This record gives sequence, structure tokens and C-alpha cells, in this order.
Amino acid sequence: MFEIMDKKTLAPGIVLMKVKATLIAKKAMPGQFIMLRVSELGERIPLTIADYDRHEGSVSIIFQEVGYTTKDLGSLDIGDHIKDFAGPLGRASELDGQSRVLCVGGGVGIAPLYPQIKYLSEQGTYVDVVIGARSKDYLILQKEIENLASNIYIATDDGSLGHKGFVTDIVKELIDKGNQYDSVIAVGPLPMMKAVCQITKEYKIPTTVSMNPIMVDGTGMCGGCRVTVGGKVYYACVDGPEFDGHLVDFDEAIRRQQMYKKEEQIEHGCKLY
Ligand code: NAD
Ligand code: FES
Repeated sequence: MFEIMDKKTLAPGIVLMKVKATLIAKKAMPGQFIMLRVSELGERIPLTIADYDRHEGSVSIIFQEVGYTTKDLGSLDIGDHIKDFAGPLGRASELDGQSRVLCVGGGVGIAPLYPQIKYLSEQGTYVDVVIGARSKDYLILQKEIENLASNIYIATDDGSLGHKGFVTDIVKELIDKGNQYDSVIAVGPLPMMKAVCQITKEYKIPTTVSMNPIMVDGTGMCGGCRVTVGGKVYYACVDGPEFDGHLVDFDEAIRRQQMYKKEEQIEHGCKLY
């Protein structure tokens, strides 16, 4: 059993939980994820590690309460326990040896991007960060990122904060202005990562994306998380979750993400999103 040490609502329906998980905290690296089960009869869900503190023995997760399990998880409070919390899983991000990186985060995808920004900043890498959300109320981790990034740029769909439009408008503008980046890291909704890759491919800037397909076991056994990258099949849980964005078949990933939406709605009465 894993104790919830802290809980905060970051935005409507978006929750941060700090969980006591000493062994995971000891080994966790940016880009990795955990699989959790709220209770004995619950389903297993993957969540990217949003932060870790080796000294405190804590691992933070950030999730959106969209379905049965995330709502169940969100109903727990400080001092409550999560039944299973397994990890760190997946391959860590490859972040060393770069001098200028552009990080792009959309919506809840800003959460898994945060440990990468932190790691790069601690290594002395110049990091420009572009983050975006539907409106300012849904923008998470702005202050934390401001403390780490060389420059931060904000986009909101409704113009309530920063640029009115998508993160991709800013990405294009930064590159067009002559900013040179060794690589780009994009994490967020699939259409956003696809759009970022369309821009960076044109400018030949290596781009990493983080895939979060449906996962069942998280250890390479079920095949549920398969993604096609460069014409080959990979399993996001063991081969990823990060891949070369210029080679990912985003259209297939988008189709696969939609596959069980109807069943999820019937089973749990949860909203399609
Ligand atoms: P959202 O739909 O509100 O989009 C967030 C931002 O992404 C937008 O404000 C915009 O700037 C950008 N964006 C969206 N669609 C775009 C497009 N077509 N072109 C260019 N930019 C676009 O995001 P949300 O509702 O918070 O959803 C977050 C998504 O992130 C979910 O789909 C979730 O699956 C995904 N996610 C991914 C990971 C990961 O590790 N890859 C982790 C957590 C969440
Ligand atoms: Fe089962 Fe990846 S989640 S193979």
C-alpha cells in the first residue's frame, strides 16, 4: 500500500498527488511512468511520473479526472493509500549532451514534460519552453516551469493568457526567428505532437514525442500499447514511451486511441473527450 502524502487541485479536474514510494523515487528518471491500481478490484492505469524526490522518497503524479479510475483515484485524500504503484517503467528520456532544447507541452501533457525541463535546467542546458492550454484556468505548472526555463512562452486557445492560439504558432515563430535548437521535445494531445513534428521535420530538428496509448500490463506482454514507428511495431511501455516524432504513425495512434471510447462511456458513464 502506498500512502498519499500530498494532494492539490492544479486546475478544474486536474489533480497532483505526491505518493510515498521510496524504491521508485530512488530510481525514477524523466520520461518514465508508473502503473497503479487504486484498489484490489480496480483496473491498472499508466501515469507518467511528474516529479520525484529521492531524499523524501516521494513520486508525484498528475492526472485528469476523466474516467472511472481517475475519478476513483481523485476521491482519495492525504493519508489514504493506493493499492498498487509499480515502477519506474519505460525507458528514460535521452537528455544529455545537448546545449539548446525546445520543450513543448499541451494541456495535461505539461506534467510529464516537467521532470525533463527540470533535468535539462539542472544540467545547465538552455531550455526554451512553450506551454498551452484551452484557457488560463487549465494551464498547469506555469510558476514551476518559469523558475527553470531560459524562456517560457504561453498559448491559450481562448486568448485568456499569452498568445491566442495553439502552441504550434509559437514553435513556428521561434524557429522562423532564427532560434537554433539541438532538439525539440513535445508532449501533449496526439494532434498537437503531430503538428509540432510537421513543423520540425521541415526544419530538420530532431523531435521526441511521448506516446500514451492504452496500456494493460505496462511490461510488454499484452501488445495493447503498440505504436508504429518508422514502419515497425513497438510497444510504448517497454520500447518507449518516447519515440522519434518524425517516424511515428500519428494517424494510426489517433485511430487506436479512439477505439474503446464508446465502451468506456457505456461501462462507466464517463464523458467522451
Ligand atoms: P487540450 O486538448 O486542451 O490541448 C492542449 C493544448 O495543446 C492546446 O491548448 C493547444 O495549444 C495544443 N493543441 C491541441 N490540439 C492541437 C493541434 N491540433 N495542433 C496544434 N496544437 C494543438 O489538451 P488536454 O485536454 O489537456 O489533453 C491532454 C492530452 O495529453 C490528452 O490527450 C492526453 O492523452 C495527453 N497526455 C499525454 C501524455 C504523454 O505522456 N504523452 C501524458 C499526459 C497526457
Ligand atoms: Fe501491454 Fe505494453 S501495455 S505490451
